[in-house]
Amino acid sequence: MTTPPLASGGSDPLRPLLDTVLEALGEGTRARGGPLPRGGPEAVAERLRAAVGDVLPEEGDPEALRHVVRALAEGSADPADPLCAAHLHCPPLAVAAAADLAASVLNPSMDSWDQAPAASELESMVTRALANEVYGDPPRGAGNCATSPNAPAAAVTTGGTESNQLALLLAREMLGPTTHLICGANAHHSLPRSAWLLGLPTPLIIPTPTGTLDPTTLDATLKTISGPHLVAATAGTTDAGLIDPLPEIAAVCKTHRARLHIDAAYGGGLLFSERHQSKLTGISAADTVTLDLHKLGWQPVAAGLLTAKAPQDLAALHQRADYLNADDDTEAGLPDLLGRSLRTSRRPDVLKIAVTLKTLGRTGLGALVDQVCDRAREFADLLDAHPRFELYDRPTISTVLFRPAHATDDDIAATRRHLLSTGRAVLGRARTDGRLWLKTTLLNPHTRPDDLAALLKLVEGTTPR
Ligand SMILES: Cc1ncc(COP(=O)(O)O)c(C=O)c1O
Repeated sequence: MTTPPLASGGSDPLRPLLDTVLEALGEGTRARGGPLPRGGPEAVAERLRAAVGDVLPEEGDPEALRHVVRALAEGSADPADPLCAAHLHCPPLAVAAAADLAASVLNPSMDSWDQAPAASELESMVTRALANEVYGDPPRGAGNCATSPNAPAAAVTTGGTESNQLALLLAREMLGPTTHLICGANAHHSLPRSAWLLGLPTPLIIPTPTGTLDPTTLDATLKTISGPHLVAATAGTTDAGLIDPLPEIAAVCKTHRARLHIDAAYGGGLLFSERHQSKLTGISAADTVTLDLHKLGWQPVAAGLLTAKAPQDLAALHQRADYLNADDDTEAGLPDLLGRSLRTSRRPDVLKIAVTLKTLGRTGLGALVDQVCDRAREFADLLDAHPRFELYDRPTISTVLFRPAHATDDDIAATRRHLLSTGRAVLGRARTDGRLWLKTTLLNPHTRPDDLAALLKLVEGTTPR
């Protein structure tokens, strides 16, 4: 076998392979014929095993790219299908996926300047711009290149989980190892898990019967628990897309001198929309904010960020490794990248984000946000008017919870699993007010009202009477 061609150094070896990938994606998607492969886990695994065969054969197979990509596409959950609407799992924009290909080909590694000369600067520009979106400084139109040492900053992460972990780590470094995490029961599981991982005291979880964190209860809790405190609020809960009352929570934190983290992994995208950004009023009071553009930002995974109001907080990540950032190199002017992350080798995830922000602009991204929020509102209207369904509540972002009227929780769980195993729809589930609800998280801007009407018909036809 001749030495296989490399990806970089020109398009010639890559072009026919890209054609193969695109054809295989198309073939696999057509073979699936719906949002999810049919037959449930055993059947899907069996088909994949049959299509892929021996993953490490003695002799290589030049057709492997076609066969494996086709098999994966056939066996994928397709977030671009309007009936695939369970999770915060968005259909990536074509332009972002294309930029991600460039990231794979160029393969900059973000741990030292000599592996990522331009990518490191692009990361600085994008993180500053997104931190400025959160903290509102400098004013819009003043450019994104303010390099003031006091300007808000951000670190790129693999998503909401890593951002939340980093937020707790920074809080521990700023406040000490007895820092007490206080959050609502509506907070993402990665927050208490991070407290466990970082050896912090057992977190205090405040019940959230209304779905959001009540500032009065938070105030009372802060009075009874000894500090230092890190309060974590949520802007876009995983189950219902609700936003905690951020200004009131920020005021309580100020009174008690508690540090504030806001997990806006889902809701952060609202910042791009003129119509919806006021729902995030108060976010700029947070010491740290989780953003995640592989949710309401239409990026392929991974596209997380953690913003820090005080950029010095991120200095906690500083690390010296002579082969990457020797003191004499740094003194001679080579940028020191190692302290931007807990990881060492790191993909330039910022490339697809930069291309997306610049291609669509704030207006284009805001329009996508508006579209999915509109669709959710229309879907809620449809449910509200439907005699055979119960709507949980009007959507705050793009999540709608509903249940067939008179169905039991067991019926609802079985309906969801039946739709999954027939591959006809992917709905999530959420337990709230003591009952089980079907969850739709609408993140596909191409979804039409007709698609949602068809989804309801499908659920209606599947639920036992
Ligand atoms: C509110 C919230 N925070 C954090 C996360 C974790 O994000 P990721 O899956 O990107 O780690 C999620 C995931 O859905 C989430 O809903």
